Amino acid sequence: MFKVNDNYLKLPGSYLFSTIGKKVSAYSAAHPEAKIIRLGIGDVTQPLAPAIIEALHSAVDEMGKAETFHGYAPDLGYEFLRNAIAEQDYKARGCEISADEIFVSDGAKCDCGNIQEIFSLDNRIAVCDPVYPVYVDSNVMAGRTGTYDSGTETWSDVIYMPCTADNGFAPELPSKTPDLIYLCFPNNPTGAAIGKAQLQEWVDYANKVGAVILYDAAYEAYISEPDVPHSIYECEGARTCAIEFRSFSKNAGFTGVRLGFTVIPKELKAGDVSLHALWARRHGTKYNGAPYIVQKAGAAVYTEAGREQLKKQVAYYMNNARYIYEGLKEAGYTVSGGVNAPYIWLKAPNGMTSWEFFDYLLEKVNVVGTPGSGFGPSGETYFRLTAFGTYENTVEAVDRIKNMKL
Ligand code: MLT
Repeated sequence: MFKVNDNYLKLPGSYLFSTIGKKVSAYSAAHPEAKIIRLGIGDVTQPLAPAIIEALHSAVDEMGKAETFHGYAPDLGYEFLRNAIAEQDYKARGCEISADEIFVSDGAKCDCGNIQEIFSLDNRIAVCDPVYPVYVDSNVMAGRTGTYDSGTETWSDVIYMPCTADNGFAPELPSKTPDLIYLCFPNNPTGAAIGKAQLQEWVDYANKVGAVILYDAAYEAYISEPDVPHSIYECEGARTCAIEFRSFSKNAGFTGVRLGFTVIPKELKAGDVSLHALWARRHGTKYNGAPYIVQKAGAAVYTEAGREQLKKQVAYYMNNARYIYEGLKEAGYTVSGGVNAPYIWLKAPNGMTSWEFFDYLLEKVNVVGTPGSGFGPSGETYFRLTAFGTYENTVEAVDRIKNMKL
């Protein structure tokens, strides 16, 4: 008789955004007249920029002619894209990353979830609390997290690094020594960012204790303050301790197109074993590459026209962020984030729990957000709103919240 991977049975509930989706669908079915505004999942709403559309059309045409047709993509991704990434995301910022250290994929979520496969099961992970659920859940599935305590909503073998108002939503170095440290800055869900000196401390720490930092930089395009690093490789020593994940979802609206990449420097080793070689082996075995037309669209992000158009798109969302931040502050809410990230993190009013506030907002004003407790115990009583809505919906949602009776 076959057996299932019973680590899956340990997962409490369904994936956060699936739970929210189901709740909203049920509400919508019961109240078909409600005009629901969704500021829950961080999904973009603006159409792809013209430079990207043009690149997609022309790549589709190439696929229709024998002489320009493309089959399987190269394992690590097409050079035209990896060279553009190496030049513009790294060299231009003074980071020493070469094109052959970049692995193109269909998105950062998959890479963040899959990367744990190349590490031993007895590695101890450390995560921020609250945290993007993929980091923890993918380790639960692998059997690396011990037992779940439903009272505290924590796993026995995970090191939690609370990110609270007291520490400015930036984690402190953990008291127990981890092997793998997940960091995401600018942060999802709190919208907090850390400066270069703070990130350097993490790099120094990881090199000292022999840990690897798994650095999720999916929101780097939203950084507006000069001291905030766009890449962990801006820090000295990061090449021997850090893997970085990047996404095209948030900077270029590829949530439905799918493209991302992971950087693994060749110096990053466990003894003699190169993590770059292990990930290359995995990538080659389990993945056939992002489609040619999508990689061509990705390359358009780095053209002059693409860069110009996307700067405007990011500014559009950050204008929403400002509107939410200022509107809610004016209404008396305690708010943070929204300066270097498209997420606003707010305290639920009147002592409500995160889910109580979720239900309250949905029922009273038909606005959907994400309950902070869904990201971890330190997220309890907090709530996340995304700036990725349309401007019109954002304004309407904020006005509804401001006029809502508490
Ligand atoms: C979020 O809402 O946290 C993100 O959109 C999820 C993701 O990027 O996978």
